[in-house]
Amino acid sequence: MTGTSEMNPILSKASWFASDDIQPYVFVRPENSIAYPGTRHVTDWFKNKKPIYKNPLDLKELPFAEAIYQLEWKAFGDKDMAIPRWAFYDCAAMPGFIAGFAGRTSKLPKKILDTLGYSTDQEWCPLSLFIIIPTMHKGEWVAYDLCAINSLLPREEQFYGMGFLSKAFALWYANVEQCSGMTQWGSPSLRLHSNYGHLEMIGSYAPLHTHAMTMTYRCQVDVNGWEKFFNKEEDIAFLEKYRLTSYVVDPQSESSMIAMQNRIQNNEGPFYLSASEIYKTKLTDPQRIYQIKRENT
Ligand SMILES: CC(C)(COP(=O)(O)OP(=O)(O)OC[C@H]1O[C@@H](n2cnc3c(N)ncnc32)[C@H](O)[C@@H]1OP(=O)(O)O)[C@@H](O)C(=O)NCCC(=O)NCCS
Repeated sequence: MTGTSEMNPILSKASWFASDDIQPYVFVRPENSIAYPGTRHVTDWFKNKKPIYKNPLDLKELPFAEAIYQLEWKAFGDKDMAIPRWAFYDCAAMPGFIAGFAGRTSKLPKKILDTLGYSTDQEWCPLSLFIIIPTMHKGEWVAYDLCAINSLLPREEQFYGMGFLSKAFALWYANVEQCSGMTQWGSPSLRLHSNYGHLEMIGSYAPLHTHAMTMTYRCQVDVNGWEKFFNKEEDIAFLEKYRLTSYVVDPQSESSMIAMQNRIQNNEGPFYLSASEIYKTKLTDPQRIYQIKRENT
């Protein structure tokens, strides 16, 4: 690796992050570029990182985009959710914000280049992907794709925290105030999504989706909790603000999702999930549901 940059010690578990041979990339058409990147959320995590800018509509960038497809298709292929090319173009490249981390191709293991069908002619090779699009609701963005090369590598060859930091970088860079998203019950990604701000469950069952057993969430992005992804500390602010209910959603029980969805639709919420609990319990275990504390509880 060519060099390393000083970084916040909390990121030491993600040792790759200090290397100058891995940088964030921003794959956004110029009209959609962010006016004042990284000014809303205060963190020093990305201060030494130099984003690589690429225009997804520029033909010269096709090899980079093809490698993103390979990564996405291989990460999601077994989940029946590989992104169609038209969806990436119409729903990501045209309206939205695509970002992730890229590695200096000459320094990456050949195995990664082979997996992505990538040529050493290109200076940078994508290693992760995150897509967000703004909604008509001011300040709210929808996240609908997160994947990392880690899902294609054995544990000892992984870049710890790459998925988590890809989303963190994009939320920081694009000044995202509120982030919504969708994830399948039982997915490991819930352990990432629950750390960017307290996670409100706005839907527990989505028969409109390819996978009905999908949870829809939103959060007010709050950098103050991001360290907990790495240090696994209890979120005291969460426990002070929310109380445990007797409700659970069982990732293996469609009827428990439908029952919860009915409570949401009856305006009995808002309902929340605890990042610490999601981390401590098995992904297939029932998830306990929280609500905002009332004055006298
Ligand atoms: C889900 C995904 C984005 C996570 O990215 P990643 O780079 O592998 O994960 P990170 O290194 O950032 O985070 C590691 C943490 O995630 C959780 N995690 C990741 N994979 C896991 C697995 N298979 N089982 C349980 N937890 C897992 C753990 O909490 C782990 O932290 P820990 O080791 O300290 O407990 C990645 O695995 C992926 O691309 N999966 C396929 C596509 C997908 O399902 N995307 C999510 C769509 S919502």
